[in-house]
Amino acid sequence: MNHKLKRIRQIFVALVLIAAAGFSSCEKYSYSPASVDPTATWHFKTDIQPIFNTNCVTCHGSIRSPDLREGKSYLALTKGGFVTLPGLTSKLYHQISSSSDHIPRTTDTEKLKILYWINQGAINN
Ligand code: HEC
Repeated sequence: MNHKLKRIRQIFVALVLIAAAGFSSCEKYSYSPASVDPTATWHFKTDIQPIFNTNCVTCHGSIRSPDLREGKSYLALTKGGFVTLPGLTSKLYHQISSSSDHIPRTTDTEKLKILYWINQGAINN
């Protein structure tokens, strides 16, 4: 009897721990919808390049393609075929949204800016 009670208590404690872990992970990964206006004009120089400067140039410089350094990035992306329409299937968007090397590097907001910029024609604006 005592043994059974002990077992029940163990199960209860386990359930509480699982629930706590579940709630805290919800907290950590809670989805907050990105607020990026798809109808606004997104500019390469002021909206996109700063994302590369902060998140990408440590790896993507003169050695690793595409070269995302200021002044080099636009040509590297267009000539390399990284920005194609529709943006959703472009290599650039694919890399930042589904490659495990890149997933944590851009926020949802940054991803959307890049996506909309590509969909608006990937202009060097
Ligand atoms: C920690 C180093 C690192 C950072 C930072 C990084 N990358 Fe990469 N990137 C890689 C590696 C390694 C590869 C090749 C392996 C792969 O395809 O995942 C790669 C591949 C790519 C490719 C595909 C290249 C090809 O020839 O197909 C693109 C596009 C790209 N990265 C874009 C970005 C962008 C945009 C950022 C910033 C948001 C970024 N990367 C940040 C390491 C990095």
